[in-house]
Amino acid sequence: MDMTIIGSGYVGLTTGACFAEVGHDVTCVDNNPDKIKTLEAGEIPIYEPGLADIVRKNVAAGRLRFTTDTKEGVAAGDIIFIAVPTPPQPDGSVDLRFIEKVAREIAEVITDYKVIVDKSTVPVNTGEKVAETIRRYAPEGIEFDVVSNPEFLREGSAVADLLHPDRIVIGANSDRALALMQKLYEPFVAPVLVTDINSAEMIKHAANSFLALKISYINAVAAICEKSGADVEKVAEGIGMDKRIGRQFLNAGIGYGGSCFPKDIAAFTAISEQIGIPFNLLNEVQRINASALSRFVDRIRETLWVLQEKKIAVLGMSFKPDTDDVRCSVAMDLIEALVGEGAEVTAFDPKGAEKAAELPVASRIQIAPTALDACDGAEALVIATDWPEFEALDFAEVKARMVTPLIFDGRNLLDPETMRKRGFEYHGIGRGTAGSKP
Ligand code: UDX
Repeated sequence: MDMTIIGSGYVGLTTGACFAEVGHDVTCVDNNPDKIKTLEAGEIPIYEPGLADIVRKNVAAGRLRFTTDTKEGVAAGDIIFIAVPTPPQPDGSVDLRFIEKVAREIAEVITDYKVIVDKSTVPVNTGEKVAETIRRYAPEGIEFDVVSNPEFLREGSAVADLLHPDRIVIGANSDRALALMQKLYEPFVAPVLVTDINSAEMIKHAANSFLALKISYINAVAAICEKSGADVEKVAEGIGMDKRIGRQFLNAGIGYGGSCFPKDIAAFTAISEQIGIPFNLLNEVQRINASALSRFVDRIRETLWVLQEKKIAVLGMSFKPDTDDVRCSVAMDLIEALVGEGAEVTAFDPKGAEKAAELPVASRIQIAPTALDACDGAEALVIATDWPEFEALDFAEVKARMVTPLIFDGRNLLDPETMRKRGFEYHGIGRGTAGSKP
């Protein structure tokens, strides 16, 4: 089928590439000419496993093309996806100006029936507003339908998530649009849930908020474990074995970050307040998330006593493994907090260093070329992101390079007992006193 994606950012580009991969004809539009030039040259502006390969392959096969011209893009597709940013405003609500702008641009160039799909994460009732806007600015008599089709991809596994989704949610209020959407998704093997537009929009916010709730739940349990001598890893295993709960997203740590959870939870909270049904539980989710980091910093300070001029190695800057994304990364917040207390931080990240170097805090830290280099002369080693390769480090060499063998594991990546045997003083999250001293 012929389809178009407006907005070639993270979601737009990966979605476009994956639809091309299953055989559709995809036109990706972006108003940034530099980005389009980069993409046309076969370069991918983000690190996402497998993405570069499928972009190049489908461009070569003629199924994926890029343009800055919205008119050309809208003419090329029967289905037009909107995948532009929906950034947060200071009060947590979503800034919908880019969605509104694209809706108007589509209205100005639409000449025949199109299905307009909201892929960006938007608050409930946005689809109705998009339809209203297009109707207002489009020539009279033009037929179109608006559909909500939320995206559930995770950074780092976006290609796999898109090609093999758990579910496909289609929020449509018209049979004509629904039939086209079902045809578009025919090549995918996944259950399809059909809803009205408002419910589909709500599913996305409710799903992300629930996942964040799970993380905050286990982090709250971890805080209690820490004081009472229980091990949160065992507790998570024990409760996760209950099929109704499940083990996923029960990894205690310094909290969730990234471009989705913090923003989506704030947005859902803001909408609930606007609607007059405040979702106070989500305020608590956010509070627990912030306290997960501050408790960890307290722990480092209490152990090292004074942070001023202490050399601390931080492994991990991206908000999670397998991505170079450092937006709203708790690892970066942690670095800021340590630097703010006068510590001398040397950080390393396998993929995120380049993007981290563009952040203001970068001028106040050293970025090391390898994890081992970061450990040179360090008085403490902090694990801030659970990159699997940090688990496989040569810890004898790490220890030899450090001044004092202290590990603060903010992601419970390492085994306390093993680290103790290797001669480290180990501090994890919610692991009681297990394995703390060598
Ligand atoms: C999330 C959702 O998972 C995805 O479905 C949605 O489409 C976009 O938002 P993403 O932001 O890519 O995806 O990352 P995710 O893997 O969900 O992790 C988010 C944050 O939670 C990371 O900072 C991660 O480190 C943290 N996390 C995750 C935990 O602290 N504990 C866990 O058990 C799981």
